[in-house]
Amino acid sequence: MSHPPPTSFRNPRTTTAWNNLSAAALHIKDITLRDVFAREPMRGHTYCAEGAGVALDYSKQRVTLEVLDDLMRLAVECDLDAHRTALFSGLKVNTTEHRAALHTALRAPIGSTIAIDGTDVVGDVQTARARMARIADAIRSDKWRGTTGRPIRNVVNIGIGGSDLGPAMADRALDSYVDQRLTRRFVANVDPGAMTRALRGLDPAETLIIVSSKTFTTHETMMNAAIARAWLVDGLGGTDTLARHMLAVSTNLPATSAFGIPDDNVIGFWDWVGGRYSMDSAIGLITMIAIGPTHFDELLAGFHAMDTHFYTAPFIENLPVLMGMIGIWNRNFLGAPTVCVAPYSDALRRFPAYLQQLTMESNGKHVRQDGTAVDYDTGSIYWGEPGTSAQHSFFQMLHQGTSIIPVDFIGVLTTPHPHQEMQTTLLANLIAQSRALAFGHTATELSHEGAPPDLVAHKQMDGNRPSSTLTIDALTPHALGALIALYEHTVFTQSVIWGINAFDQWGVELGKHLADDIEGAILGSQKPDQSYDTSTAALIARVRDVTVSPPAR
Ligand code: F6P
Repeated sequence: MSHPPPTSFRNPRTTTAWNNLSAAALHIKDITLRDVFAREPMRGHTYCAEGAGVALDYSKQRVTLEVLDDLMRLAVECDLDAHRTALFSGLKVNTTEHRAALHTALRAPIGSTIAIDGTDVVGDVQTARARMARIADAIRSDKWRGTTGRPIRNVVNIGIGGSDLGPAMADRALDSYVDQRLTRRFVANVDPGAMTRALRGLDPAETLIIVSSKTFTTHETMMNAAIARAWLVDGLGGTDTLARHMLAVSTNLPATSAFGIPDDNVIGFWDWVGGRYSMDSAIGLITMIAIGPTHFDELLAGFHAMDTHFYTAPFIENLPVLMGMIGIWNRNFLGAPTVCVAPYSDALRRFPAYLQQLTMESNGKHVRQDGTAVDYDTGSIYWGEPGTSAQHSFFQMLHQGTSIIPVDFIGVLTTPHPHQEMQTTLLANLIAQSRALAFGHTATELSHEGAPPDLVAHKQMDGNRPSSTLTIDALTPHALGALIALYEHTVFTQSVIWGINAFDQWGVELGKHLADDIEGAILGSQKPDQSYDTSTAALIARVRDVTVSPPAR
């Protein structure tokens, strides 16, 4: 049953600000970024904000001071302040599951108190973190031994969605902090090829499997976990094997126990941690093993620094509010359905994929909190790849395609690696791309430069394509935490304006149930449902032909 939200949601279309913004959008078409920079030459210094070590330059967004004013007013009219307080104070903001969404408590400093239904949760968070640290230290110092007495050299995380994407992204991002004696692998998909590759070349005697699943019922994860369990038992025999080689991170202790994982090897967390908000809970165990408890604490401190910034900074200086509201402007008023995220950092290669779940599972909703249909667009499509590689694949369309695609550029100013000259080239490209998108290349400029007349139209770039640039000094654990929390709160800000629940994900359920039915139909354990449409029935028959009675080779 859906419960009333602790704070009421206003339909944004009924606000004065929304009306003003609709009017402004009609005029903004005629104003280019060249114009606004000519009018406000200091934009590059004034349309900027900084928080928790992250700098945001939004001067190349198609916003004027009036538009910004109305975006901030919209946030006020939609009572963002009260909703933010409800989120941070543990009220049940996830109304369809009647739960708090208290990921901020996962990084609250020792000594703070945050209560759900009158009970403090920070103490439990710290206790779980201390257990994680003991396990991580034991593995990193070779005190944790496998059944043959050998130390652990490989850690495999089995999990999907929020139980995979965050740890997998962080593993790459924080590579320079990782204990390189440890091989880390991540397996999410139920595809047999994924599991084969994850275990390939690993010796079970030196391998620890972590089964990460909030529910411990997710089909893909449970199948992969069963295969890994068999791999361990086949390789090492039965006695003590799971106690030494398998851990679980879950909220479902009866299920982990039924699976055969001893209770001492299970680290729990809580239903108020959403899957896509869980990488700083015990789901981050593989991260902590890889980078060590001290660096993991720094990661959490980065999250917390951004939480504090979001909670305390005035809206106009507040990074998540600015990014969230500019996102609303682009989505609802300028008609841009997608956001391209381009980190100019190979270490952030998995960041766009991580953001896809965070943003799209949170804000891809078609009804408001009260169940009524929205009459405006919600969640943007997030996608992207690291630059400069992306420049050589899809950037052509960003520059000259017929759709406007706003970009979030992410730059890391320094590198821990040798060859500083490459880092300079990388960053020069980032800046060049944001400049080219904003200001384009006019026909007049091309002619002056001597472009062949018949090529001018082809080479001409209109510009006026919006982007923001985020920069951090270095990709430290602290900076990564701040960057992730920035997007978490950006998502939340937008969900408040759109009046939707950012913390449930009912849309993924139907596919799961249908897959169970269809699997039964393929395997013949279930009579094929006569009501299947002809396409579904034919596809089932095709798979059934090769799966149930494979052709002779
Ligand atoms: O199917 C979507 C989802 O529920 C995500 O929200 C979640 O991150 C993922 O599946 C994995 O769930 P679990 O951690 O319970 O296995």
